[in-house]
Amino acid sequence: MRKKIVAGNWKMNCLLEEGQKLTSEIVNMINDEPIKDVKVILNPPFVHLHGVKKLIAGVDTIALGAQNCSDKDAGAYTGETSAAMLASFGAEFVIIGHSERRAIFNESNELLTEKTKQALSNNLTPIFCCGEPLEIREAGTHEDYVKKQLTESLFGFSEDEVKKLVLAYEPIWAIGTGKTASSDQAQEMHAAIRQHITSKYGKAVAEGISILYGGSCKPDNAKEIFSKADVDGGLIGGASLKSRDFVDIAKSF
Ligand code: G3H
Repeated sequence: MRKKIVAGNWKMNCLLEEGQKLTSEIVNMINDEPIKDVKVILNPPFVHLHGVKKLIAGVDTIALGAQNCSDKDAGAYTGETSAAMLASFGAEFVIIGHSERRAIFNESNELLTEKTKQALSNNLTPIFCCGEPLEIREAGTHEDYVKKQLTESLFGFSEDEVKKLVLAYEPIWAIGTGKTASSDQAQEMHAAIRQHITSKYGKAVAEGISILYGGSCKPDNAKEIFSKADVDGGLIGGASLKSRDFVDIAKSF
């Protein structure tokens, strides 16, 4: 039985009080309306990690994640945040390879391997993102494109390491655009990703890995998307900034 996960990626949003209010509202809703068998992860900006951790203390359903980590251990790397620091602040998850980091900050598949190593060696679960831009989707080469991202970043890891990953498929053309992939498009790609993992690590490993969908996931489309066999939850951007919408998405299994 794979873990069902709904992870909120706040991106670069929320001032101090906004982040505290959002977290408190989510905590209150989940306490009032317990969600069974779903892990809810809040991935705020680094500066919110400590505050969010305090607010979610004692709520088993909710875990803390970060949006990025350094590929370096420690030392003179101004502006970087290490995986070890994240773990020491109580994070259990870290998003790696989000398309915005790949595109805006030029993160390569090779760099993402190093970040994934850092996460794993500090007992953080990477939420490793992949996904194609619109032109690749329109050219019909999206499966090959995503498989290459996974091969180049992840296929040097051992079976035991790969088992620890969560994957997130986010078609870039659906991120923040209001244009979600259809549930069939999501299922098709998730199945292809799982098949690709099977080809390298075998069925038992691939069947155990949760694969999340991301891209304009909202309360009104989450149920349909999450109903698909290979979709194990969502990585939620815009809707994770609205407590009611986010909790409703988490209740959409
Ligand atoms: O990390 C989240 C994704 O980029 C999806 O963002 O839900 O705003 O489309 P979105």
